[in-house]
Formats: sequence, C-alpha cells, structure tokens
Amino acid sequence: MHELDREVLLMDYANAADYEVFRRKVTALTGIDLGLYKSQQMQRRIRSLLDRVGAPTFTNYGSLLERDPEELRRFCDYIMINVSEFFRNPDKFDELEREILPSLLRRSPNLSIWSAGASNGAEIYSVAMILDDIAPRGYHKLLATDIDSGAIAQALAGVYGPQDVKNVSRARMAKHFTSEGSVYTISSRIRSKVQFKMHNLLADGFERGFDLILCRNVVIYFTDEAKQALYGKFRQSLKDDGILFIGGTETILNARNIGFEPTSSFFYRRMPLGKEAAAR
Ligand SMILES: C[S@@+](CC[C@H](N)C(=O)[O-])C[C@H]1O[C@@H](n2cnc3c(N)ncnc32)[C@H](O)[C@@H]1O
Repeated sequence: MHELDREVLLMDYANAADYEVFRRKVTALTGIDLGLYKSQQMQRRIRSLLDRVGAPTFTNYGSLLERDPEELRRFCDYIMINVSEFFRNPDKFDELEREILPSLLRRSPNLSIWSAGASNGAEIYSVAMILDDIAPRGYHKLLATDIDSGAIAQALAGVYGPQDVKNVSRARMAKHFTSEGSVYTISSRIRSKVQFKMHNLLADGFERGFDLILCRNVVIYFTDEAKQALYGKFRQSLKDDGILFIGGTETILNARNIGFEPTSSFFYRRMPLGKEAAAR
C-alpha cells in the first residue's frame, strides 16, 4: 500500500474510534444512540460544534459535555433541530381537515391522536384547532411527545413568533391566540387539550390504539434501518385503518411490505398483513 494511502486509512480509523468513544458518552449522558442516526450527516453537524468551542476531537468535546450541563443542552437542541410551525405544508393540513379527519370521525366520534417528534407543539395545536372546529363535542385524546425537554417546555408555554404562525388563518388567530407586538400566545383552552411527554422514538415503548399518528420531519437523520423499524412500530400503535401522516419530503419505502397502503402523498393507512387479512 502507498504510504499516503496508509496514512489516510490510519486517520480514518482514528476518527472512527474517536467518534465511537463520543457516541458511547452521548448515550450514557442523554440516552440518545447516535448509531441510529446517519453517521456522516451527524458527524458533520457535530463538527461545527467542536469548531465553535475549539475542541480538537470528539472525545474532548464529549468530556466538555460531561462537565458542562449548559453545553449538553445546547448540543441536544442543535442535533435535534426542533424547527416547526403551525399548519406546516398548508395543503396537507387542508387535506387532513377536509378528508382524513372527517373519515376517521365517521368511524369514531372520539379520536386518539399522537404527534411523535412534536417539537414546540405547533403541529399538535394545529390539529387541536381543526378538531375544535369540525368535532368540538368529541372527547379526543391528543398526545405529543419529543426527546427534547427544551422543546416540550416551549410547547407548554405556548408562545410563538410571527414565522411560526404565518399559516394560521385570520379566524383561527382571532379565536385561539392573543398577541403582544410580535409575540403570539395560544389560548389555555387549546393548550389544555394536549398531553405532552418526553419520549425517545428510538428507545422507549409505544402506546397503542391511535386513529392518527403524525411523525413529520423527524426521521431525516435516522438510518434507513431505524426508519423502517420505526414505521413498523407505528403500524402496531395504530388501530386498523388508522393513518400515519409523514413529512413533506419523506416516503415510506416498500410501504405495503410493512403493512401500510399509501392513500395520497404523505398519508398512509394501516392495512392488514397476510395472516391478519385472512382472519378479517
Ligand atoms: C424538525 S422537528 C419536527 C417538528 C414537527 N413534527 C414538524 O414537522 O413541524 C424534529 C423533532 O424531532 C425530535 N426528535 C429527534 N429525534 C428524536 C427521537 N429519537 N425521539 C423523539 N423525538 C425526536 C426533535 O427533538 C425535534 O423536536
């Protein structure tokens, strides 16, 4: 082997070993297994944090995370990217309001809905506002979960900026928000309809019996294997014919093989698998 190639190879090994030590430290500190996220993208993102604090290696940065809870919180916020907004992809929320929710409501007047990777709550509060208009008398269960405690704290506070609310209609703005300058606060009535919990989609157990699960813009950095396993678990958490609503840049590969039928872009219906189909 050429001397230069050998040096490059040794550097690759050293880097992989350095990242591996860091990965274990992060799991010990936060419960997050970075091995289930796409390695190249994750490493690139984390390197910019190393540069910011002047840490020469991942291992050095891991030691800093251990010593400095504030840096640990910044790290979690940064890698989890909790950007969200109300009625994100308005045409899809329109379809949710006009077609998907009415068809679920025809089967059950009381819906059970889970926003998984809910971030600051804008997504589940959008659903709560729709239900308040189209099924106000139902006893709906609205669950919203996220791995990031900072995002959940924001959701519970219910305070947003102009960018977050840009797709909220005038009527809903007037009905559900108060504003002071450019700060918009969602009503306590809508907030009280949602239960927020911390939950790691890649490690924790899943509740069952949902009519609708929203998991949008969460799996971007998950490995393909982690994604497929997750979609399989969502299927088990849905009732028969329940719907999974995914993000506007996402698709489920081989959806039918894991028991989902695409109903339109970004909406998938739980369908029976081989044996279940025969028993129905
Ligand atoms: C870009 S936000 C998406 C928010 C919302 N679903 C939307 O589409 O507007 C992604 C969220 O996924 C959360 N997340 C990332 N990995 C997670 C995991 N393993 N378990 C639970 N939530 C996770 C992040 O903390 C973040 O709040």
